[in-house]
Amino acid sequence: MFTANQASILFKENYHAEAHVVVNQGGTSSGKTFAIMQVLFCIACANAGQVITIVGQDIPNLKAGALRDALKIYADSEQVAGCITSYNKTERVFVFGNGTIMEFKSYDDAQDAKSGKRDYLFVNEANGIDYYMYIELALRTRKKIYIDYNPNSAFWVHDHLIGRSNTQLIISDHRHNPFLAESMRDKIESLKAVDLEQWKVYARGITGKITGLILNNWHLCDTIPPHAKLIGIGLDFGFTNDQTGCIEVYKQNGELWINELLYETGLTNPDISKRLINMGVSKRAGIVADSAEPKSIEELRRLGWRITGVKKGADSVKNSIDILKRYKLNITLNSLNLRNELGRYKWRVDRAGRTLNEPVDRWDHLIDPLRYVALNKLKIGNLGKPKSWFPYAPRSPEAGVLEGMMNGLKFGRQLEKMK
Ligand SMILES: Nc1ncnc2c1ncn2[C@@H]1O[C@H](COP(=O)(O)OP(=O)(O)OP(=O)(O)O)[C@@H](O)[C@H]1O
Ligand SMILES: [Mg+2]
Repeated sequence: MFTANQASILFKENYHAEAHVVVNQGGTSSGKTFAIMQVLFCIACANAGQVITIVGQDIPNLKAGALRDALKIYADSEQVAGCITSYNKTERVFVFGNGTIMEFKSYDDAQDAKSGKRDYLFVNEANGIDYYMYIELALRTRKKIYIDYNPNSAFWVHDHLIGRSNTQLIISDHRHNPFLAESMRDKIESLKAVDLEQWKVYARGITGKITGLILNNWHLCDTIPPHAKLIGIGLDFGFTNDQTGCIEVYKQNGELWINELLYETGLTNPDISKRLINMGVSKRAGIVADSAEPKSIEELRRLGWRITGVKKGADSVKNSIDILKRYKLNITLNSLNLRNELGRYKWRVDRAGRTLNEPVDRWDHLIDPLRYVALNKLKIGNLGKPKSWFPYAPRSPEAGVLEGMMNGLKFGRQLEKMK
């Protein structure tokens, strides 16, 4: 169904795997998800009346993972498209001419996962799925289970599946994917110079010990609450290899609510401006941008944006992280790239294993603008001596405003004399 120039070695390995559970552990961009989706399309086209369920942590994750790959395969392969009678975008279900269905789902909890039965199951990015949810899904799967993930640290797959007789383990990395751009390979390999632990996980697919995340005070939310106050927009410029990252930060009930706006390469300044306008961002909103690009800042200012370069000051990285740690951070479900960055944002570790006082700066195109907003819009008031001081003078309920102020002034003068 897929010719040699359409499929990687991972496709063949998965296609011929005989175990009941096929575990695909691997570095980033090794082609795991794509290969498993190709296998599932082959199964769907060749077998009538099957139910195939692809499960992800949530819908945004599926849309950026297995569902995206499925739609690409559907668009690129005439043979696959010829077997499919319909794709329901809202329900995320492919229906095949032979009665087989392929559904993309996320479940709230283990109880929710008890609904429905299937022949084939694919758990995409399994470390985002609860073990008890997996058990409920696996119990209701008749034929075969595929699993994929990046091994940031050991989890239930390592504890309960790998090593069992009915489980096959396939480990891959970007070198197994002939369809990857060289620039992406370079980016993945460049982790070696920055953080060996992350390089092991993301470049080689070896189970890591990525613990000690810098920001772990974040939670998911559906949307920004309607009455939350906009604190600022953070913008980090990128272009060829690095993404331009932009986020909006709101505050309500002493918590921060954060939403990703942009995460894209190749954007010029007029592109950024257009994108923000299209997303309904007001030009008066107040953007704090990377101060390393004054020309871009000026260009956006001339396009009508209220924009300033971030004032960093000494120890700005540590200070901004300290500020962010004082809040509960609510990240919208759709902020997928920000969620990914937060899940990888950790302190650098040198070759001797010592933790350094600086973060790994590879995946921070959205965290950096978040830090800019923290630095310039959420400054915690300095605790030194106040510069001007007007003493508090309690006012009797009958007293007018003027009288209250006079009392205050008198009280102030008395204090002056006492100094
Ligand atoms: N057979 C193929 N034909 C065309 N493109 C492919 C093929 N296999 C993989 N790719 C492309 O390579 C890239 C990486 O593949 P994929 O997303 O499947 O990797 P992954 O191992 O699941 O990565 P991650 O661990 O980051 O989820 C994708 O852009 C995908 O479209
Ligand atoms: Mg994947």
